[in-house]
Amino acid sequence: MKFNKKVEEILNKQVNAEFWSAFMYLSMASWFESKGLKGFANWMRVQYQEESAHALKIHDYIITRGGEAKLAQLDAVPLEWKSIMHVFEETYKHECKVTDLIHGCYNVAADERDHASTNMLQWFIDEQVEEEQNVIAIIDQLKLIGDNGQAIYMLDKELATRVFVDPTQAAN
Ligand code: FEO
Repeated sequence: MKFNKKVEEILNKQVNAEFWSAFMYLSMASWFESKGLKGFANWMRVQYQEESAHALKIHDYIITRGGEAKLAQLDAVPLEWKSIMHVFEETYKHECKVTDLIHGCYNVAADERDHASTNMLQWFIDEQVEEEQNVIAIIDQLKLIGDNGQAIYMLDKELATRVFVDPTQAAN
């Protein structure tokens, strides 16, 4: 079946949004590096890799459907945050926005009766639930920790153990 143009267009926008997310998390990783928080930096670097994998999954899907993947210019990402908590609050806000964008893509695919695309996007809907939960779990820990330097040091050690496992491959 010929690939629906409206779906192709909104999925291309989503590729851009996922790459923007990747850049933002790499920027956060760099900010943590500058503060000497290597574990937090590692967690954000893995997040960068996850977002790149998300972008590629949609990019490759567009091509598989006979569409054209069109990369657009990325807006500048933030470079500074006020605190560790601020970084994760912004991360949570951003993930909620991405969830809305994914739902928007799904709604267009559903309106156009493009079932292959709704099926592909269902994976992202499930992934977003996990993404939001991961961030909430860290925010909850940060609330408990407050200004306790020793506890921040321990959390940094814990976040240093996060390893990238390509979520798009694990699902196949
Ligand atoms: Fe690709 Fe974190 O959403």
